[in-house]
Amino acid sequence: MKKFVKIVSMTVAAALMAVTFTACGDSSSSSDSKSKGSIKFGTNAEFPPFEYVVSKGVIGEFDGIDMAIAKQIGEDNDKEAKIENMEFDSLLVALDNGKIDAAIAGMTVTDERKEKVDFSETYYNAKQVMIVKEDSDIAKASDMADKKIVVIQGYTGETCVKKLGFSYQSFKKGTEAIMELVNGKCDVVVIDSATADKYVKDNKGLKIVEDNKEFENEEYAIAVKKGNKELLDEINKSIKKMKEDGKIAELAAKYADSTN
Ligand code: ARG
Repeated sequence: MKKFVKIVSMTVAAALMAVTFTACGDSSSSSDSKSKGSIKFGTNAEFPPFEYVVSKGVIGEFDGIDMAIAKQIGEDNDKEAKIENMEFDSLLVALDNGKIDAAIAGMTVTDERKEKVDFSETYYNAKQVMIVKEDSDIAKASDMADKKIVVIQGYTGETCVKKLGFSYQSFKKGTEAIMELVNGKCDVVVIDSATADKYVKDNKGLKIVEDNKEFENEEYAIAVKKGNKELLDEINKSIKKMKEDGKIAELAAKYADSTN
């Protein structure tokens, strides 16, 4: 009799264990995103072709070169890439206080920013350009001296115009700046090259003026909180791979051509 009780209780225990295991197995297989870790990327989705909002993008409502890169970094590390959209000026603060893990926003590596955050390998070359009306007489940066200049707040374009010593007005969004230009309220918008190409394509009567002597080459990279080596290594490995296998060039070409 004693032996019988023992066997029964062992069977019950085994059955319970089986139930427990099944429960665990279920929860991990039913929803991948629940059990997977995630990387929270902060961006400012006002910067085509790198990040902008559409009805159905590569990550939720977000689309663009950077968003596709973020998604790939997630996949390469078996993590879910999540996007937090915020003002460009808020990104470095959000990194510092842990609201986001990484910032991917067509962000130019600068010495000033390097003091606050760590940057990944660079993944895109850009430069500042001037967008003007087709009949404008602006042909080089110094021609902006007595013109009404518009920049976007906190972008490197603002730093460049400041350095030239010209006065300017700043707006929070590229689209607002372009509207000023289209409506004849300013003479020139200084902004990153690929984004300028997009705006000129989408708005009639505008053209791009370059001044490669005045505006230096800029490089975009992903920022993480200072010292977050683990995440930086994951990101770098992924970027390196995407540079080598041509994925970034492919994305750049695809999104430069697409009409959003
Ligand atoms: N490259 C410029 C900078 O780093 C502009 C970046 C703007 N990016 C954005 N997602 N709004 O300042």
